[in-house]
Amino acid sequence: MVCRIVPERLVLRPFHLLDQEWALLVAGARSPNPMTVSWGGFGTLWNRPVVTVCVRPSRFTFCLLETEPEFTLNVLPESYRGALELCGSRSGRDLDKWRAAGLEKVPGETVAVPRVAQAELSFECRVLASMNVTPTRFLEPSLEEFYPEKDYHRVFLGEVRAVFASDRFLEH
Ligand SMILES: Cc1cc2nc3c(=O)[nH]c(=O)nc-3n(C[C@H](O)[C@H](O)[C@H](O)COP(=O)(O)O)c2cc1C
Repeated sequence: MVCRIVPERLVLRPFHLLDQEWALLVAGARSPNPMTVSWGGFGTLWNRPVVTVCVRPSRFTFCLLETEPEFTLNVLPESYRGALELCGSRSGRDLDKWRAAGLEKVPGETVAVPRVAQAELSFECRVLASMNVTPTRFLEPSLEEFYPEKDYHRVFLGEVRAVFASDRFLEH
């Protein structure tokens, strides 16, 4: 059971959540598609609450974000690990991942993209800006090892329009 809260009330472990639990990034208002992500973060930019996600140009999700600059980011219970593995290994170009992973949509309240019904935590976001990861700016050469295909991420900065959280993400 989730309820809508103001972003300031949220209690998160920022270096654990995406890295260990992963999340589903949903993009595409007309034809929404869930993709597993583990790179990104939460913070303040331009005096607004912002969720950051990093998406490689090869992803179907990249095209969807470029066309419709809104997304939701959804954290699921541990029992959905299999669904996250599927959404992180198959492309929405050739599969209805909602159906294949047994996930349901809930209409967004502030964006045209849906949230995931099974999520314990969801953010509804509007992209304020995006920028490319540029290898000429790498100060640490080993970062290049993440890009054998030269498939450098684009960083999408999404203003948080609404947060829906279960008790687990609230102060007790
Ligand atoms: C645990 C995990 C985390 C991932 N994190 C990201 C990420 O942060 N950015 C990204 O571009 N791809 C990431 N991926 C890969 C995409 O989820 C994967 O390529 C997916 O099939 C793309 O789906 P799409 O083509 O429907 O967009 C991750 C995959 C897994 C399994």
